[in-house]
Amino acid sequence: MNHQHFLITSFRGQGHLNPTIQLAKRLVWAGARVTYATAVHGRNLRTIKTPISMEGLSHTSFSVNNDDDAVEPSSYEDRMREIKQVGSRNLRELIVSLSEKDRPVTFLIYTVLLPWAADVARDLGVPSAFLSIQSAAVFAIYHHYFNSQSGFYQSCKNKPPTPISLPGLPPLTPEDLPSFLLPTDPNFPVVPTFQEHILTLEKETNPCVLLNTFDALEEDLIKAGLENMKLFAIGPLIPLAYLDYKDHPLDNSFGCDLYDCSTDYLQWLDSKPASSVIYVSFGSLAVLKKNQMEELCQGLRESGHPFLWVIRPSDTSEQEEVNTMMKGRLDGDFGLIVPWCLQVEVLNHKSIGCHVTHCGWNSTLESLTAGVPMIACPQFSDQLTNAKLVQDVWGIGVKARADGEGVVGREEMKRCLDLVMGVTHEGGMRENASKWKALARRAVKEGGSSDNNLRLLWQDWSENVF
Ligand code: UDX
Repeated sequence: MNHQHFLITSFRGQGHLNPTIQLAKRLVWAGARVTYATAVHGRNLRTIKTPISMEGLSHTSFSVNNDDDAVEPSSYEDRMREIKQVGSRNLRELIVSLSEKDRPVTFLIYTVLLPWAADVARDLGVPSAFLSIQSAAVFAIYHHYFNSQSGFYQSCKNKPPTPISLPGLPPLTPEDLPSFLLPTDPNFPVVPTFQEHILTLEKETNPCVLLNTFDALEEDLIKAGLENMKLFAIGPLIPLAYLDYKDHPLDNSFGCDLYDCSTDYLQWLDSKPASSVIYVSFGSLAVLKKNQMEELCQGLRESGHPFLWVIRPSDTSEQEEVNTMMKGRLDGDFGLIVPWCLQVEVLNHKSIGCHVTHCGWNSTLESLTAGVPMIACPQFSDQLTNAKLVQDVWGIGVKARADGEGVVGREEMKRCLDLVMGVTHEGGMRENASKWKALARRAVKEGGSSDNNLRLLWQDWSENVF
């Protein structure tokens, strides 16, 4: 792959950065040159440990040297407009300047929320691929929803049919769809960006989509295919040290944390019996309401298991008050609260028995790959679909039932914890979790499906470009 020079660019969000940085590392190890262009910098990127060339690329008019995102445009639409304008200009300038420095970009990889990146690449004659950082199922749902040939959009706009039948997917209810597709979701304005992604891909002659999943996990869907699209499942994009990959023992973190990470939890975990600890985390974005935190806290205490709970520092004083109240209630108890941890390391610790999760796609894949069953408490976006798959398709968890206000009560939390921790009959979740763990590891090994797909992508690119 010597003359190949990949440029990867990602939105500045933890769930976007982690898989894209991981892909950058894998391409470097496969022999390619990789430039990673991002608005994250400085201390956050110190631990990547792989020779990836880093370039500052701001998607906003704020300086890339400012660690802070400062004041952002107030509405989502304005923010996306600004990101498109500034990001397109900066990306174009970067590609041109790399070419002038004798490092021409031969392939661009971009992620969700940056559909305009494909237009910049096309204008400059650079082939590109979209990396879906969400499941193949969610990508397919968006595709069917917005694809100009499909009647799905029209049928959902009024009242989604039940069940919803889409090729390669189990029957879905409207509650299983990514929340953004339902007009009731407060984040409904993000929909045009997802639509733009699908329409941008339609403009390509041979649209190429990389999926952070693996063939065995979403087999029916990948086999069912999507009109004219080349799909390459190349995941799970997780540090190789957690995939039993002996060649890269030092690849033991993603290498980019937007929050300050504590380390004092490891000793605490070491002191706990195998599979006894409940790990609780809602990713990098979701913020739980006060009554949800209280119900969760009570459910955890009543379950009688030790737990490690990530409560991120908040930007608002109101939320910070709630956080402080929770910490006051729990410190010294058999629960430990941390502001941020290295989640993949925690999930692979022998003491972890269960993951209470919002079902962000990275968290879902990380839990599945570690063989840890989940209690799914989806909050928004693709998390609803992931929760459905976790419970009903892969059988590695249970979806907690929320009340009319969207809150999972303490009794429900206790019921789920009893089920997953094996107090009541857990229906084979642990066996299923072990099975998926083994299959995920097999996929990334040399000769495994994801390893092969990365090579096929390479071959496909060479045959079509030269
Ligand atoms: C967002 C969306 O919310 C999610 O639905 C989508 O699938 C991806 O983008 P986020 O909510 O942050 O992501 O969740 P997730 O996808 O799970 O990503 C969070 C990442 O942060 C994971 O890779 C996880 O390992 C990491 N993490 C989380 C830590 O390293 N430490 C923590 O304490 C918590």
